[in-house]
Amino acid sequence: MSGKNEKTRIAVLASGRGSNFVAIADAVSRGDINAEIVLVVCNKPGAGAIEAARERGIEVKLLESRGAPAGEYNEKLVQVLKDCRPDLVVLAGYMKIVGKTVIDAFPMRIVNIHPALLPSFPGLNAQKQAFDYGVKVTGCTVHFVDEGVDTGPIILQRSVLVEDDDTAETLSKRILVEEHRIYPEAVRLFCEGKLRVEGRRVFIERD
Ligand code: GRF
Repeated sequence: MSGKNEKTRIAVLASGRGSNFVAIADAVSRGDINAEIVLVVCNKPGAGAIEAARERGIEVKLLESRGAPAGEYNEKLVQVLKDCRPDLVVLAGYMKIVGKTVIDAFPMRIVNIHPALLPSFPGLNAQKQAFDYGVKVTGCTVHFVDEGVDTGPIILQRSVLVEDDDTAETLSKRILVEEHRIYPEAVRLFCEGKLRVEGRRVFIERD
């Protein structure tokens, strides 16, 4: 990472509407996070994240993954990322498995948010998986990215109670509100050098 008062260089990978990206970008604009978002890479044309980045004057690179062999796509992605020299890579609704080449290029420098309390309900549609299972408590998790699917060391979690009159949709909305709180917070902690990883455990130096 950069020196103590230097801005952390953040690259964002997104595939969809980009609300988590917006939450982080707004926290950066407010000065809550001492960072600069240097690039948003999007693998899906037309994704909301593209427009949101442009509106904020942040450089966007469309790197279409559809039809591209995974190996080739990941090599291109590593190149694009290396070119912008990020200290941190933030996955914000990035709907692709991050290949080993990418992880090896940025070890413990990639973070993700997952809409369930890991290790429960990894993978797609986590909110619905939890709802259908009948859990009383679910939530969201920010974690470092390793080679597994949603298996990396956990940075922050926030719980959300399931109410009797919830649907998977109403529950997802309340989880999203918490996502927008803990993701910028986790990014801030990273940028301030307050995260220490020991094996699977992430220790947070409190403010
Ligand atoms: C969020 O629910 C996040 O937890 C998951 O994908 C969704 C992305 O939403 N990884 P958005 O694009 O950030 O609005």
